Amino acid sequence: MSDELIAASNLISLLIEAQEDALATIKAGNKPESELRLQLLGAKSELTRLTRQIGRVPKEERQKIGPVVTEIKRSIEDALNAIATDAPPKNSDWVDVTTPGIRPPEGHLHIVSQAIMEVTRIFERIGFTRVRHPEVDWDWYPFESLNMPAHHPARDEWETFFLEYPGKPGKDPHKQKIVLTPHTSNGQVREMEKGKLPIRMINIAKCYRRQIDVSHTPMFHQFEGLYIDKDVSIGHLKGVFDHFVKQFFGPNRETRLRPFHFQFTEPSFEVDINCGICLGTGNLANGSPCKLCKAGWLELGGSGMVHPVVLRNGGIDPDIYSGFAFGWGIERTYMMKSGTKLDDIRLLYSNDVRFLEQF
Ligand code: DAH
Repeated sequence: MSDELIAASNLISLLIEAQEDALATIKAGNKPESELRLQLLGAKSELTRLTRQIGRVPKEERQKIGPVVTEIKRSIEDALNAIATDAPPKNSDWVDVTTPGIRPPEGHLHIVSQAIMEVTRIFERIGFTRVRHPEVDWDWYPFESLNMPAHHPARDEWETFFLEYPGKPGKDPHKQKIVLTPHTSNGQVREMEKGKLPIRMINIAKCYRRQIDVSHTPMFHQFEGLYIDKDVSIGHLKGVFDHFVKQFFGPNRETRLRPFHFQFTEPSFEVDINCGICLGTGNLANGSPCKLCKAGWLELGGSGMVHPVVLRNGGIDPDIYSGFAFGWGIERTYMMKSGTKLDDIRLLYSNDVRFLEQF
């Protein structure tokens, strides 16, 4: 047996596959129950073989697997009992009063909801307020207002869903086309339009892009921060990011800013966080290169100082006020924290309770 480590989520997927195969075999109904029992639960069964792999799962993740194995075995046992010849005849009045009661299943919030609540709490502690802005919006807000006029090539990065306008659009040049918001940055100018300063918003919402593969779902979530006041500097931006990563990821995590380009910020940055495994060194204790990160750093998301054009579009005088903004993905940030290495991010939205119960 190989002694290479395997992720709990991978082993659980294999266990679930084995369970599905076993249940299908029982349903096929072409073997007696005793023979099936040996084949599906015996020492040479696929299930037993997979259970022996638990030792290869990192210690801290192992406890997730026990309940899954118990549940899978129970479902196979139940299916076998149902076809056993000595099982009580179906549709009779026979009642086994010794049968233990059925425990009602207990649910919990989806991991994305849990992450949204945690992110909100961290920013609220330093004076930000969670706000909501439309997730179906005029394209002015996610694009034009952010310094990306129609046909600007930067728009291509946001694989946008456009919606049919019901009826004929009116004369207002800002209300011509409707989109499913491809990023939460549409909330920037919307927040400025409320006319209240200073602004400390955290806008968490669904975003939509025409992308689907193992690392993209067409619907995902972002959290967008916007801070506007007099004399806001890059120092404030860095301080807020450091606060967030220490609260969310742990006290020994740090951020760094990498120059980048966005149309709506100047200067713009990508924010990196030092890797939780090698703590920014890029190497493991045994000298081998860290497999999780790129030379010690992982990318969190975009940020920058709000562009004067954007401030003006929101009715704010850039000669008096300045601010910073950032927009990061909830799913991505959560997975970086938990070390959950999902080989397919679409699992998050497949509504399979067996998957969701792990978190
Ligand atoms: N909206 C950008 C995206 O979806 C991320 C982003 C970058 C948001 C820079 C910001 C920002 O607020 O300042 O890729």
